[in-house]
Amino acid sequence: MTDFKKSTIYQIYPKSFYDSNHDGIGDLNGVINKLDYLKELGVDYIWLTPFFVSPQNDNGYDVEDYYRIDPRYGTMDDFEKLVCEAEKRGIRLMLDMVFNHTSSRHEWFRKALAGDEKYKKYYIFKKGKTQGKAPTNWESKFGGSAWEYVPEMGEFYLHLFDVSQPDLNWDNEEVRKEIQKIILFWMEKGVKGFRFDVVNLISKGDFADDECGDGRRFYTDGPNIHNYLKELNAQTFGRDAEIVTVGEMSSTSMENCFQYAGEKSGELSMVFNFHHLKVDFAGNEKWVLVPADFMKLKKILFDWQEGMEKHQAWNAVFWCNHDQPRVVSRFGSEGRYWKESAKMLATLIHGMRGTPYIYQGEEIGMTNAGFTDISQYRDVESLNHFRILQEKGLTREDAYRILQVHSRDNGRTPMQWEKTENGGFTDGTPWIEVNKNYEDINAMQQLEDEDSIFHYYQKLIRLRKEYDVIAYGSFRTLDEQNPSVLAYMREHEDQKLIVVCNFYEKEVSWECPEELEGFRYLIGNYKGREGKKGVRLRAYEAMMLYKRE
Ligand code: GLC
Ligand code: CA
Repeated sequence: MTDFKKSTIYQIYPKSFYDSNHDGIGDLNGVINKLDYLKELGVDYIWLTPFFVSPQNDNGYDVEDYYRIDPRYGTMDDFEKLVCEAEKRGIRLMLDMVFNHTSSRHEWFRKALAGDEKYKKYYIFKKGKTQGKAPTNWESKFGGSAWEYVPEMGEFYLHLFDVSQPDLNWDNEEVRKEIQKIILFWMEKGVKGFRFDVVNLISKGDFADDECGDGRRFYTDGPNIHNYLKELNAQTFGRDAEIVTVGEMSSTSMENCFQYAGEKSGELSMVFNFHHLKVDFAGNEKWVLVPADFMKLKKILFDWQEGMEKHQAWNAVFWCNHDQPRVVSRFGSEGRYWKESAKMLATLIHGMRGTPYIYQGEEIGMTNAGFTDISQYRDVESLNHFRILQEKGLTREDAYRILQVHSRDNGRTPMQWEKTENGGFTDGTPWIEVNKNYEDINAMQQLEDEDSIFHYYQKLIRLRKEYDVIAYGSFRTLDEQNPSVLAYMREHEDQKLIVVCNFYEKEVSWECPEELEGFRYLIGNYKGREGKKGVRLRAYEAMMLYKRE
């Protein structure tokens, strides 16, 4: 059995991973093609974002049929082959289940619109407050009202995301049964992991106006959420001890996560939270330009590390996914210290208590898209906000500057495999442009270079398996108030690990508050280092020091 505390999970966004049949869209056979690469990296699971039949308004997070594979991505045979080929390489599959909402093209929703009472109860339909006025003032996460009026019915339906993503009604037991059936179906196919999309939004509370926010407090970590997760666990994946689960928790609280991912709570194996990825927002407002607040980042990471440990709960630790900009562009450097900063950011995450996730391309230091025209963007959220920002009075140029930093498309440009055209992703026309820097940043080049970011990630993955202190150790912050260094200590039985990261380009001298006697250098991003008291940390320097009593 794979121990998820020693595992590393690799996220694949199939659409942008590798295209095996020249149509410009990555596919399941493309993933099979690249399994040896993933084995070389050393990951234990691959999390595949949704490849189910979908109109693709939100790139597959709008599911039309949970039992069928979108022909753009391949066939059920391809999927079965993928499970089997991955297994041969010691890699397991984690699927991405989107159950907060379906696509408006899902059969259930179409029946609901056609007036079928049974299916109307699968969704959340409400009468308006007054003629034509939405039931509440809640906002969609993608901009605009969260309610859509259906004139034929004289009612609104709730969509926390795009209008083509109506929210399911989890309070209806029949809906929960349908969902259990879907999970059991994929378990039978040999799937060994599930990621549950925005799963802490499934239990809606009061439908009331939010006087001081966008409505999220009424449906985030809602009244029945823990019951629903316990039930799902007991009826489906909880029956197979080998299955690993992770919940994507939107705007959640730590107290709720103690339960979601508590060792004994019978809910999920672990959770993603995003508080550390809002340190360059203004509060919850993403579509602004504000510098990242390092002290806040540290505090959030430390609080979650310590809090989750204290309550025997497990974190997923990560910087990147398909909804986030590239971390090296965000908190590191695209310039002279590109490689050093990418390795520093990797060290910081991979030394932590939790299961690390790597998002495709992160392991080669891929950077933000660098798009300069709206025609290059594809994401529904970016397109909506480009319009909204201008409606608010921003110039096109200002709107572009914000998109360049925050757009989800930054993380969605195709994987850069090699120097050849389109970075070797496709020999057709890619559905979204490849980053122009593919000749300098690509997997092939890094596989050949011993000192590459790829090989650094490979080593970090291996260290987690070899050193119990990395997988199981307790967590303690070091030098908490330091304005440029992030450091922490892990301890397990007779082992100790110190992780030190200079978060900035500027050199800084650092005095370790711990006695460093007996520590040896385990890994770092500069050559010829040893663990000494009072060191000068170079630009983005990071290291792990290890000691066994
Ligand atoms: C999650 C997904 C994101 C999607 C949203 C709605 O946040 O990661 O890509 O748009 O849920 O399903
Ligand atoms: Ca294809």
